Amino acid sequence: MSETLENLLQENRQFPPPDALAASANVTAAAYDEAAADRLGFWEAQARRLSWATPWESVLDWSNPPFAKWFVGGKLNVAYNCLDRHVEAGRGSKVAIHWEGEPGDTRTITYADLHRSVCQAANALTDLGVTAGDRVAIYLPMIPEAAVAMLACARIGATHSVVFGGFSADALSGRIQDASAKVVITADGGYRRGKPSGLKPIVDEAVAQCPTIQHVLVVRRTGQDVAWGDKDLWWHETVEQASPEHEAQPFDSEHPLFILYTSGTTAKPKGILHTTGGYLTQVSYTHHAVFDLKPDTDVFWCTADIGWVTGHSYIVYGPLSNGATQIMYEGTPDTPHKGRFWEIVEKYRATIVYTAPTLIRTMMKWGEDIPAKFDLSSLRLLGSVGEPINPEAWMWYRKHIGRDTCPIVDTWWQTETGGIMISPLPGVTATKPGSAMTPLPGISADVVDDQGESVPNGGGGYLVLREPWPSMLRTIWGDDQRFVDTYWSRFDGMYFAGDGAKRDADGHLWLLGRVDDVMLVSGHNISTTEVESALVSHPSVAEAAVVGATDPTTGQAIVAFTIPRGHVDSEGDAGEALIAELRNHVAKTLGPIAKPRQIMLVPELPKTRSGKIMRRLLRDVAENRSLGDVTTLQDSTVMDLIASGMKTGK
Ligand code: WT7
Repeated sequence: MSETLENLLQENRQFPPPDALAASANVTAAAYDEAAADRLGFWEAQARRLSWATPWESVLDWSNPPFAKWFVGGKLNVAYNCLDRHVEAGRGSKVAIHWEGEPGDTRTITYADLHRSVCQAANALTDLGVTAGDRVAIYLPMIPEAAVAMLACARIGATHSVVFGGFSADALSGRIQDASAKVVITADGGYRRGKPSGLKPIVDEAVAQCPTIQHVLVVRRTGQDVAWGDKDLWWHETVEQASPEHEAQPFDSEHPLFILYTSGTTAKPKGILHTTGGYLTQVSYTHHAVFDLKPDTDVFWCTADIGWVTGHSYIVYGPLSNGATQIMYEGTPDTPHKGRFWEIVEKYRATIVYTAPTLIRTMMKWGEDIPAKFDLSSLRLLGSVGEPINPEAWMWYRKHIGRDTCPIVDTWWQTETGGIMISPLPGVTATKPGSAMTPLPGISADVVDDQGESVPNGGGGYLVLREPWPSMLRTIWGDDQRFVDTYWSRFDGMYFAGDGAKRDADGHLWLLGRVDDVMLVSGHNISTTEVESALVSHPSVAEAAVVGATDPTTGQAIVAFTIPRGHVDSEGDAGEALIAELRNHVAKTLGPIAKPRQIMLVPELPKTRSGKIMRRLLRDVAENRSLGDVTTLQDSTVMDLIASGMKTGK
């Protein structure tokens, strides 16, 4: 890329923390000073929040970069930290998980219950021949057994590889083979959109290609008929019959805890490897600091699926290590009605909700009268993760979900970073809508230009991490060279995150999306995120996706796909008028250089299963090409919908 990113968007609104929250916050501004004075000492103090069987000898071994070792020589058991120590401290009867099935069935699971199940699963896996260092694949719906399975692996030192339950047999078998997993834990099926959907048939198809799999452990969730083979075992006939006595052994701080695959757009998925001590230290600390979690009074709800890193770090390891009470929901937000999420908040009196911008924009599209029907007065803090959150979506979230009082923490991180890296601290930071604000204490993020020099305030460029952090990925499973090439080769001695970012006049950080999504228009680098945010700031727009299409005069030209809000008339002339108005609106908001060449009004946008817009497919449409690979789309019919429902203005 020839130039660094432009800095177009202006946002002047700012929201200080509520006084009461600031006065009682878990973490105050002093944490920034402590970490600045002694970064490694700061992380040692956070590691002491956990229970270690053997203390570490040194905090960080960075003698062979980029291969880090944290809390060298220390030993601990992750499941012990998430369960036993709470039970031993007399908190066994505290609710760990309020689980809500999509059809409306519920389970209330205390720390003692969860401890018992995890011990049983640990014994059952051991009986099946799983030992420390073996890999176990987990392919489950959002049922409590998913957390039990992960914690049981952690308890016996087996490395889990959770594969999102929406992935295909090919995706599953590829991941099983890459990690040479010995066992896969699955279910007959799960509930999605009001129907039982089968998982076991997909596993059967996958396992046929996977000679390393010795056993398939199957949870009965839906009661569907399933084919049964030699390797298959029912969970209720093995795990639930196993002894609930199990003593957790400590493992080395660098023992592999899990592998989680991130799917690149075209290349082979990368098996991101996380280890034990540093990972648990950072996810536990960030959950405590960023969500201000008060274990005795809060009801925490992270709406992510356990198949994504957000579910690993902020459903399983962060909240449970902190002794939180949380909500876990199996299904989709619109089943059986579009108010399901807010009904769940009301029912369990959730105090903290952590969700994704794509969901917030979907809720905006459905309209604010839906959340208005529910009592959301229990909420005190809101979080966002997964994509840049457009300022208007942020404002909508604050107003219609957060009663104009809840602070919003916009948290930037990645599968690779393991835990939150850039975020406001809710009792400290005066937030700006759309900005992730500042690196957390102990994290050194920076924005650099092409040469790797820090940009001044007001500048834009590439987001990098200058120092190793406890929950960093240790490598790509089986491919150290790819780890070095992908993350550590673009800039000398720095981790390159792949995201564009800008630093505003006050030094606060604004994430601009993946650098592959930056457009080069007449020699200016323009971020898709900023144009999208400008479009979403128009009252007629619910969602927008912007791509750069090849253009003979400008190099690339901006093409926008826009979903009008529910009440907006976009038929015929009204649609043409709206398109003209939107083009001018962008030009006014960001400047004439950012005016889209073309805006299309569409009924839907193509998204991955984790909710990220697939701009690659929209580029195919914008450049009149036949579509590339659509298999990772959440809904494979959406591209037809776009083609048939498209109203285009040139
Ligand atoms: C990419 C990582 C982190 C868990 C979920 C996604 C984007 C994530 C933000 C945010 C702007 C964000 C980045 C990042 N991203 N959070 N708050 N603001 N962008 O994990 O699938 O590994 O994706 O998501 O582009 O690189 P992931």
